[in-house]
Amino acid sequence: MRTPLMAGNWKMNKTAGQAVHLVQDLAELIKGVKDVEVVVCPPFTALKSISTVIELDRLAIKLGAQDMYWEEKGAFTGEISPIMLKDLRVDYVIVGHSERRQYFGETDETVNKKVRSALDHELIPIVCVGETLEEREREETNIVVEKQIAGGLAGLDPFEVEKLVIAYEPIWAIGTGATATPEVANDVIRHIRAIIGSQFTPPVAKRIRILYGGSVTPENIDDLMDEPDIDGVLVGGASLDAEKFARIVRFGEHQA
Ligand code: 13P
Repeated sequence: MRTPLMAGNWKMNKTAGQAVHLVQDLAELIKGVKDVEVVVCPPFTALKSISTVIELDRLAIKLGAQDMYWEEKGAFTGEISPIMLKDLRVDYVIVGHSERRQYFGETDETVNKKVRSALDHELIPIVCVGETLEEREREETNIVVEKQIAGGLAGLDPFEVEKLVIAYEPIWAIGTGATATPEVANDVIRHIRAIIGSQFTPPVAKRIRILYGGSVTPENIDDLMDEPDIDGVLVGGASLDAEKFARIVRFGEHQA
């Protein structure tokens, strides 16, 4: 019922030329994959060239941005607006990644403004939530994600919430090789689904897609995708390697 979503967050990697090669290699390797949505999120500087390749070669890959500002235009030096992303045929936008929260002052309030604006411009936000190692050790994981979801999705209508995607990315698992066990990841994601059910409606909780992110590799994807509440993954490091990401994508197909 929920189409698996396999997304690659390339973070601050790849020049425009390198990005085009990566997406072409990936497209070749995942030819024929069905019933899985594949999204790549390159840096802003590569969006235009990848968008052109996707269109000209009719690739079954969708384009996502790693962030955006909520205003449409104006004196906001260095920022990128939803209108600019739509102009490049971007479909998805990552909002509130823990690296944005940690290094660039993103808060639940700014996440909320970005989510509101993305939906208003028909971009699908991939809203990231997740706890630090200290919070996990203090057994505060559920409280932390509850607060991030309540703040990040404040003021939305249920029909809007079912369109967006949530990514549970425990900070201690990002780029560390310390993947959450499939059971731990599924427990938190099940809890997130319950939060959505009570903050919005139970049917929305059933329909919304919730991804796991944090040290996903071709070796651990099988067990993660076996879990009932995990609808896909947001992959960092392994998505920079076409062969590895293609292997990850194929496990989405198994689940579909
Ligand atoms: P890694 O897969 O490199 O751990 O990164 C995860 C992530 O932050 C995806 O957004």
